[in-house]
Amino acid sequence: MDTKVYYIDNDAVINEAAYLIKKGETVVFPTETVYGLGANALDEKACEKIFMAKGRPQDNPLIVHVDNKDISKFVKSIPENVKILIDRFWPGPLTIILEKKDIIPDSITGGLKSVAIRMPESTIARKLIKASGVPIAAPSANLSGKPSPTTIDHCIRDLSGRVSMIIGGVECRCGLESTVVEAGETSVTILRPGEVTKEMIEDLGIKVDIDPTIMESLGDVVPKSPGMKYKHYAPDSDMTIVTGDLNKVIDYINNEAKKIALEGKRVGIIATNETLGEYHNGTVLSIGSRGNLNEVASKLFDVLREFDKIGVDYILSEGFIDEGVGLAIMNRLKKAAGHKVIKL
Ligand code: TXA
Ligand code: MG
Repeated sequence: MDTKVYYIDNDAVINEAAYLIKKGETVVFPTETVYGLGANALDEKACEKIFMAKGRPQDNPLIVHVDNKDISKFVKSIPENVKILIDRFWPGPLTIILEKKDIIPDSITGGLKSVAIRMPESTIARKLIKASGVPIAAPSANLSGKPSPTTIDHCIRDLSGRVSMIIGGVECRCGLESTVVEAGETSVTILRPGEVTKEMIEDLGIKVDIDPTIMESLGDVVPKSPGMKYKHYAPDSDMTIVTGDLNKVIDYINNEAKKIALEGKRVGIIATNETLGEYHNGTVLSIGSRGNLNEVASKLFDVLREFDKIGVDYILSEGFIDEGVGLAIMNRLKKAAGHKVIKL
C-alpha cells in the first residue's frame, strides 16, 4: 500500500485525512500523548485495518477518540465522579472506560461490554475528528510490541506501507500514553498510569485504586486492561532497571557495564542529565533531568528506540520514584525490561 506522508498538518492536510477516515481508510495522526493509528470507530471493516497494520491481537480493545465532552451517544451511563473527571481533565490524556452502547462495534472492544473513550488535548487530533464527523478509534501508531511513537519518524519506520496516510510533524508533549481508568460508581481504578496521576484524581475527592499488575508481574493475576498483559514497549535488547541510592546505582551500572563490555558485547545505559558524566563504558543516553519527570516521560520511548537504532545487546537503566508521573515512567520501564529490576 502507498502511504502518503505529510510533515505538516494544515487544514488542507487535515481535510484530506478526514476524507480517508470517512472512506474507511487508516490515518496516523499526532496527539499530545503519542501518535495514534486511526480509523472510523463506527466502521468495523475500517477498524479491522488497524489490527492488521499493527499486527495487534484482536482481543486488545481500541480507544475511541472524541472531539466533544458529550459522550452520551456512546455509553450507557455516566457516573457522577466521571462527570467530575471529564470536566477537569478533558480535553487531555485521560481515557475512561464505561459501559458501551450498541453503536460501538464489539470488534473494536475485543468483545468487552465496555468502551475506552478519551477527548485528546491535541488540536490537530480534535480537528481531524471534527472534520471526519465520526469518533476515531486509535491505538498507539507502533507495530505491536514496539515502543509507542512520539515523533512522525517513529511512525514512518513502523507503519510506512501499512496505512493510507501519516500526518503531523510535531513531537508529542507527554510522550507516554494516556492514563486509563475504569470508572465505578464511587471510585476509579487506574489500569494504566499516565500524565494524569493518582494524586491528581484524589485531589478531586475521588477514591483511586491501582490495578496491582501495573507495577509487578503477578504471575497468574491477569491485568484488567487487556493491552497491559502483552509484552510491550520492548526494545530489541535485554534490559535491566537498577533502583535505590543513586551513588550505589551508578557504581552497580558501571561494574555491570564493564563486565558486559569485557565479554565483547555492546551495552547501552539510560542515564539522566545529572549522572551522564558518571558512566565510563558503552553508549550513554540521558532520558532528561531527575528534577523534571515530565521531561523524562516525554523522552522515554525515543531513548528506547534510539538504542534499537544504534544496536546494543544489553540496556542498563537508572530507576525513578514511583509517585506522580514517576509511576507511569516506572511502569513503562519495567515492561520494557520484562520486570527485571535490581533493588539496591
Ligand atoms: O494516549 C493514548 O491512549 C494513545 C493515543 C493514540 O490516544 N492510545 C493508546 O492506545 O495508547 P493503545 O491501544 O495503545 O492502548 C489502549 C489501552 C490498552 O492497554 C487496552 O487494552 C486498554 O487501553 N483498553 C481499551 N479499551 C479497554 C476496555 N474496554 N477495557 C479495559 N481496557 C481497555
Ligand atoms: Mg499501544
